[in-house]
Amino acid sequence: MSVLAKEYMSDEEQQNPKAHQAIGAMGNLTAQDRLKEQQVTMSSPRRRYSIGAKILFASLDAIYGKPRTLSKFKVLELVARVPYQSWEQVAYIAITHISDRISTARRIHDRVIEARQQQDNEQWHLLLLEELIADRNIKENWLLYTALPQLIAFLYYQISVIMYIIKPKWSYRLNADFEDHAEHEYMILVDENPDWETTPFVSVLAPDYGTYESLADLFRQIGYDERMHKHESEYYLMEPRFK
Ligand SMILES: [Fe+2]
Ligand SMILES: [Fe+2]
Repeated sequence: MSVLAKEYMSDEEQQNPKAHQAIGAMGNLTAQDRLKEQQVTMSSPRRRYSIGAKILFASLDAIYGKPRTLSKFKVLELVARVPYQSWEQVAYIAITHISDRISTARRIHDRVIEARQQQDNEQWHLLLLEELIADRNIKENWLLYTALPQLIAFLYYQISVIMYIIKPKWSYRLNADFEDHAEHEYMILVDENPDWETTPFVSVLAPDYGTYESLADLFRQIGYDERMHKHESEYYLMEPRFK
């Protein structure tokens, strides 16, 4: 269980963490809480993005346009999983090299578990978006929305691995920027779609990700998840190397 996920869990959930993990969203918020969290995001300044993050966001805007569309968010989610995959991979290699120091290996393994939980959370976001895109019959260009995102994800994976090996702080900073961007973009997306307040959330993924009062409520939860991811990367910015 991640440090931050624990912080946001009720006493009951902490005693029975499996019950929490059955729902793929972070925290245990009510619709009212989620509304407040959206206001928190909207009134919070964005992080001061690094040059790398600015290039990444500008490139995505250049390719997919500035308007916030479900298809563009799908691309963001495909890319969002990548740093966690790269961290997991590097952490496994580190464990192999220091397996004689059990307590250190154990601590690194905790990071592997956290990276996996974040990946799973991003995976639910991706699947929810894919479901919405399919339900709405939104047509997507295969090259732009299937092939190119995979190429971007491949390159981003290599960059994440290299940064994480040379200086983990770089990778955590880039991810904190990416998650901050995602948090704000999702909360603005909700604001831009007032009809979502009364659009019911119906999904085959509800048993995994939870039930929500409306589509707006769902996207507020996703935005909140992104903030938790950001906090986790910010937390590791203070102690980036394995100890
Ligand atoms: Fe996400
Ligand atoms: Fe995220």
